[in-house]
Amino acid sequence: MKEQLEKLRQAAMDAVAQSDDLQALENARVRFLGKKGEITSILKQMGKLSPEERPVMGQMANAVRQAVEESIAAAAEELKKRQQEMKLKAETIDVTLPGEKQPEGHRHPLEIVLNEVKDIFIGMGFQIADGPEVEWDYYNFEALNIPEGHPARDTQDTFYITEKMLLRTQTSPVQIRYMENHKPPIRMIAPGRVFRSDPVDATHSPLFHQIEGLVVDKNITMADLKGNLLTLAKKLYGENTEIRLRPHHFPFTEPSCEIDVSCFRCGGKGCPMCKNEGWIEILGAGMVHPKVLERGGIDPEEYSGFAFGLGVERLAMFRFSVDDMRLYYENDARFLGQF
Ligand code: DAH
Repeated sequence: MKEQLEKLRQAAMDAVAQSDDLQALENARVRFLGKKGEITSILKQMGKLSPEERPVMGQMANAVRQAVEESIAAAAEELKKRQQEMKLKAETIDVTLPGEKQPEGHRHPLEIVLNEVKDIFIGMGFQIADGPEVEWDYYNFEALNIPEGHPARDTQDTFYITEKMLLRTQTSPVQIRYMENHKPPIRMIAPGRVFRSDPVDATHSPLFHQIEGLVVDKNITMADLKGNLLTLAKKLYGENTEIRLRPHHFPFTEPSCEIDVSCFRCGGKGCPMCKNEGWIEILGAGMVHPKVLERGGIDPEEYSGFAFGLGVERLAMFRFSVDDMRLYYENDARFLGQF
């Protein structure tokens, strides 16, 4: 029995040493120390021994069991440690690897155009002004020489909030607000959102953007208007660009005109971009009406001025050859990513 025990001890120790994972170790434990394990069976045979042999063999068997148990515990400890190390190694983050690149954002095409126009006017000494989008009827119409019943009110399908309050249909009310707070000389542009109750199509949207301009000083004439807006046209569309002033009517300017630029695609020969006209209309302008100056608290006998208003979407449509306005509002990243 003594020999048998010694053999078992050796076999158990070998089995433990050869277990290279926790499952193999557990199998070894069951094989030797489990209920029906080989060492356990020997211990069960103690009863058959003579009373003299029993304590000696018992002690020896227990010593073997204890030794095997200890070596299993030590091996388990070691295996757990190794497992942990392997796990840590597998999960190591290499901080020197390049990061995942986020897709780069783009400026909105309308903002690109707006920034270009702003830069041009800032370069000419203009201030940037702004006014409320929810506006009084007074500033949007009345003070701009568009009294109640005036046909110009019908051409701008207005979103009314109350009888006296509305969403501004144009940036022109900022002219009045600016004159109320600033003395001449005045040189300002006022970009912003405007609203008209138009159904959406390729060239209409209930929300769009305008840039208003206002210059008031002594001896401002139509020549100043033309010079400033020719500079704008050349900076936007190139040095060879010409402008032409066509007589028009706006209630808040007198005289009024629409300004065309020579087609930047064909240079004036006629092409699909300019619909074979050679000219493309880009803005409305005129000499500020004396009544409008008066409403702004400025004496029309002493001062004169010119004003203009341009549509940002229109400029962008020409600038980027994108002729469906809806694309500018749908926020489709595939479209916006091209600018
Ligand atoms: N407010 C006009 C519109 O929405 C545009 C405009 C025309 C503004 C002539 C002006 C101007 O200041 O002088 O159609």
